[in-house]
Amino acid sequence: MSPLSPQEKAPLAADPQAAPAAVLQPTSASPVAANWRGFLRVGSIITETPGVKTFRLLPSSGDRFLPFTFVPGQFLNVAFWIGGARMNRSYSISSSPTKREYVDLTVKREPRGAVSRHIVDLLRVGDLIEAAGPVGKFTFDGTEADSIVLIAAGVGITPMASITRYLIEQGWGGDIFLIYACRTPADFIFGDEIAALQRVHPKLRVAVTASKPEGTDWKGGRGRITKELLTQTVPDLASRRIHICGPPLMMEATRAMLTELGVPPGQVKTESFGAIKPSPAAAGTALKATAPATGPMVTFSTNRKSARIKVDQTVLELSEELSIGIANSCRVGTCGVCKVKMTSGEVAMEVEDSLDADDKANGIILACQAKPKSDIAVEA
Ligand SMILES: Cc1cc2nc3c(=O)[nH]c(=O)nc-3n(C[C@H](O)[C@H](O)[C@H](O)COP(=O)(O)OP(=O)(O)OC[C@H]3O[C@@H](n4cnc5c(N)ncnc54)[C@H](O)[C@@H]3O)c2cc1C
Ligand code: FES
Repeated sequence: MSPLSPQEKAPLAADPQAAPAAVLQPTSASPVAANWRGFLRVGSIITETPGVKTFRLLPSSGDRFLPFTFVPGQFLNVAFWIGGARMNRSYSISSSPTKREYVDLTVKREPRGAVSRHIVDLLRVGDLIEAAGPVGKFTFDGTEADSIVLIAAGVGITPMASITRYLIEQGWGGDIFLIYACRTPADFIFGDEIAALQRVHPKLRVAVTASKPEGTDWKGGRGRITKELLTQTVPDLASRRIHICGPPLMMEATRAMLTELGVPPGQVKTESFGAIKPSPAAAGTALKATAPATGPMVTFSTNRKSARIKVDQTVLELSEELSIGIANSCRVGTCGVCKVKMTSGEVAMEVEDSLDADDKANGIILACQAKPKSDIAVEA
């Protein structure tokens, strides 16, 4: 693993989005930060499935308890130095917030992924990870509804695992429906634990479908998540709160099915793990758009550089052409790592999930989403 640089000046997130109220009260004398950033130590590594590992992270300080609390469904932003470039990524916390001594991140090795391969292949017990958070609004702690439908595919099960573990530990009285799609039975992340929980908790109902079960003795569902699977598993589906997390295409298809089944969109919450496109390895390495630069002028005041934006280009993409060095992670508006302050002008943002009211009042924008509507200046 590449050495981490605590002195690195760029923070993981300029101003992480406000976390909802923490579920648990601190149980140690150590201060518990709302917007924490610092280092965590890898305490143990568990192989979950081929290509997926859970990293159990402990306080680096030697304290017994973590320096932050979180709400089930939140994530951490982590940063690594790989090949001389600083790279930020987000990982949902898969453990329950009742476990105050550690936090689990469960990471899938993407065959060509820069950071996930680094984590899964190279991280060892004892290594330090630079992290910030917890952040995210894809949360559920049992107070928001009297039942919950969790629909996940692949590694999208991680926030659902935290929510399920927490609700069961709390003896929550509502029904929990977990509908999960994986490729092969061997790819069912947390499969043994979920089967064991299901046996002893009648309120937890699980339906798992494998798209490639051939050659195994799999007795669960086959194929992808369908409308039939949803309605057979969840009575009165249209009246329930639903959370979806998985690959973009699965999420899109599931949303469409829920709409056809009469579920009001306001009852559905989603978490996207990112766009399906390679992210640039480092500032300045983005492919140059071929479109002419005829749009509004963007001034990066800290770097004293200005350029006109190209058609459909985001402030982040232009900043990469100019080697401005705006930190980023998800590139889909979720993580908040690319927040920058806009001091003049106006932008349109398709997704602004990670901006809260304070951010908006203070002129903070998401560089990965921002498309200038007029000449703008940003502090970057
Ligand atoms: C809120 C949030 C929570 C998340 N939680 C989790 C989690 O719990 N567990 C988890 O595993 N992930 C999670 N992710 C995803 C994670 O942040 C990373 O995006 C993921 O690990 C891939 O990062 P990477 O650097 O390995 O891939 P990148 O290098 O960023 O590549 C992104 C994708 O493009 C593909 N790709 C890369 N280069 C090429 C190329 N040249 N040609 C074609 N394809 C290419 C990669 O295979 C990968 O699928 C989460 C993301 C968000 C936003
Ligand atoms: S990079 Fe995640 S919100 Fe912009």
